[in-house]
Amino acid sequence: MKKYRFEYFASCPTGIEELLTQEILDLGAKTAKAVRGGVQFESFHEIALKVILYSRLASRVFKYLYNFEVNNEKDYYLEATDIKWKSLMDVNNTFRLTTIFGDLLSEREEFRNSQFANLKLKDAIVDYFRHHEGIRPSVARDYPDVAFLARIDRGVEKPYQVTLMYDLCGDPLNQRGYRLAKTEAPLKENLAAAILKIAKWNPETEGLLDAMCGSGTFTIEAALMAANIPPSYLKVERYLKNSNFKLWTFQNYPWLTKDELLMENFNKMLQEITTQTEDGLARLSEMKGRIVGNDLSEMSLISARENLKKAKLDGLIELTHKDALALKPVTEKCLFICNPPYGERLEYGEDEKLKALYKGLGDHWKHAFKGHRAALFTGNIEMLKVVGLKTSKRHILHNGDIECRLAEYDLY
Ligand SMILES: C[S@@+](CC[C@H](N)C(=O)[O-])C[C@H]1O[C@@H](n2cnc3c(N)ncnc32)[C@H](O)[C@@H]1O
Repeated sequence: MKKYRFEYFASCPTGIEELLTQEILDLGAKTAKAVRGGVQFESFHEIALKVILYSRLASRVFKYLYNFEVNNEKDYYLEATDIKWKSLMDVNNTFRLTTIFGDLLSEREEFRNSQFANLKLKDAIVDYFRHHEGIRPSVARDYPDVAFLARIDRGVEKPYQVTLMYDLCGDPLNQRGYRLAKTEAPLKENLAAAILKIAKWNPETEGLLDAMCGSGTFTIEAALMAANIPPSYLKVERYLKNSNFKLWTFQNYPWLTKDELLMENFNKMLQEITTQTEDGLARLSEMKGRIVGNDLSEMSLISARENLKKAKLDGLIELTHKDALALKPVTEKCLFICNPPYGERLEYGEDEKLKALYKGLGDHWKHAFKGHRAALFTGNIEMLKVVGLKTSKRHILHNGDIECRLAEYDLY
């Protein structure tokens, strides 16, 4: 007998699980527990939808469906055909499936790889519908009606434990809808928001200077935080203009959409977000000059400008075109934040050039930013030594597969 679970899982970049736990509790979850790569939480459905609309840190939100244990790939297929799929989706729905292996799964001999396991799961769904309804549903990689995630971990009674979940989001939540322009190595939006939170940037008392802003992610996330604008504001606006186009996969799940009270509350949340956005944008116009982005590359500034426009923040965030090593504080107290090139994904040049940049930052802060703070996020851990200043705090965070450091400096 498969066990049905009344819980949710919010995924996030590794290293920000504790922050996300607090965010989810603040949004009203009954319980929340950090695990690697995300947070398990128990809540009413309404709070899960709130997390989707209001979380700055989550990548996706899933609803736990079933747990079952299997011996091998063949079992995985057989057990999956035993699930009552028609209670989870309609045969006319398009669907997307993802199977991942959990951390503890080192002995994978019974499973070739996660893609192959995923094929087995797809076969199980297709065969189930062929058997029960005579037709099969279609797979859609983009914009599916229904999306599932299956995670395979080490089991207790049998070697493997499968956790099947609904993906409630469809598109990842970090894709806020403002990133038009493609630049090299932009930070994920939720990671940028997390870095601002970890560095305890306080918009009331500190200005923000992103000295190497690239596509402008820090400045946009900072402005949204400072003005209390929910990160879903652009999606909500798009949806309210044309509600035929569903923006989140949960909108196709009857167990949610048939709940009239829940849908009424969801619509209320959308209205609240619209009001919060209008108020927030008005507040930001009073904060002009307190959030500044800068970059040496004209191309980066062009994309930052386009993104700011799409985010409705053009004119509210200043952009400058200077060498980071020539910048001055933008406010009486300011946080100099930067995500310099680190040689992994950007072809900035050789080590020597990078070293000069990182050393230059340390020297410049000592002279020009006394009494202010700095936060440097990099995937090049060696380069932190070159900065030559004592860090007040260091944090390990992951940018995709790259283990990174956030180093904080109090500059006296
Ligand atoms: C890793 S990217 C920053 C990405 C950014 N955080 C984002 O989310 O898009 C590094 C940026 O540093 C800029 N840069 C490199 N050297 C610089 C310097 N000396 N002064 C100012 N900007 C510089 C590059 O043009 C590039 O846009």
